[in-house]
Amino acid sequence: MLCRLPLSDDPNFINKDQHFADAGIYRISENLALVQTVDYFTPVTDDPYLFGQIAVANSLSDVYAVGGKPLTAMNIICFPCKKLPLEYMEAILQGGLSKMLEANVTLVGGHSVDDLEPKYGLSVTGIVDPGKMITGSGAKPGDSLVLTKPLGTGIIVTALKGDFLSPQEAADTFQGMATLNAAASRAMVRAGVSACTDVSGFGLVGHLQEMLISSKVGARINLKALPLYRGVAEMSAQGLIPGGDYRNLEYYKKDLIFEAEESELQESMILLADAQTSGGLLMAVSPTRLEQLLAELYKEGSQGYVIGEITAGPEGKIAIY
Ligand code: CO
Ligand code: CO
Repeated sequence: MLCRLPLSDDPNFINKDQHFADAGIYRISENLALVQTVDYFTPVTDDPYLFGQIAVANSLSDVYAVGGKPLTAMNIICFPCKKLPLEYMEAILQGGLSKMLEANVTLVGGHSVDDLEPKYGLSVTGIVDPGKMITGSGAKPGDSLVLTKPLGTGIIVTALKGDFLSPQEAADTFQGMATLNAAASRAMVRAGVSACTDVSGFGLVGHLQEMLISSKVGARINLKALPLYRGVAEMSAQGLIPGGDYRNLEYYKKDLIFEAEESELQESMILLADAQTSGGLLMAVSPTRLEQLLAELYKEGSQGYVIGEITAGPEGKIAIY
């Protein structure tokens, strides 16, 4: 549908040709570009403060994915004023603000709408040096693929809603979702990576595939190396999988190459497609920089899991084993 919206030919709109770009990049001067992004969604938890924190961590993520620095933000909130107490809305905004303070982002305004169901997120403005910005299109054959947060938030949220997990058992997943990608981004900027994107609604498979298409390469993923939040393996084995995951997998299955029997891979394959809320950064890094990247991530208190590598092709295809 978006194809029918003509793109501006403004020469300062730097990444207008990168169709899957995480954020819009607009050149202000030789060494300075604006990074702009907007994201908001419905609650993933009954705890309004935590929801606010997760929504803000998620909204800032697209700026971190390009190696940028978020500066200012505006709240976007939809709220059923007659159905829920206003304290609930305040708690969402307080949670969000706590994360903006942690990220050193200045809240400069916002907009609210009376709506049937709560939604919250930010419109974010950041900066990046266009010469140093990281895109999804620089992955090279031989690069290692590094993921900075575990997978499985969609499965855990589903299990929690169905009372198959207690909030305590899901606590580390929610902690992970509320974690800023700031530290991972700083580590990646220092180490130097070939490409980066953040993992969100299309799952690892979808966001990796965007990177592969824009970089004109393929990839191999070791399903056993995928990091999972606590309880994800058990919950998915019990079939507690959101419908969106099956739709993601169905859509991307044509791009998967099976290096082992499909039946052997079946169970872990769905984890590739699990829609992530506030997922980690996915980076392609040259083998000569991998060790430094892992060391920088460790120094920043972030995680780094090597889950596979970039291959010469077939373009856009993901071999799994
Ligand atoms: Co993104
Ligand atoms: Co986004």
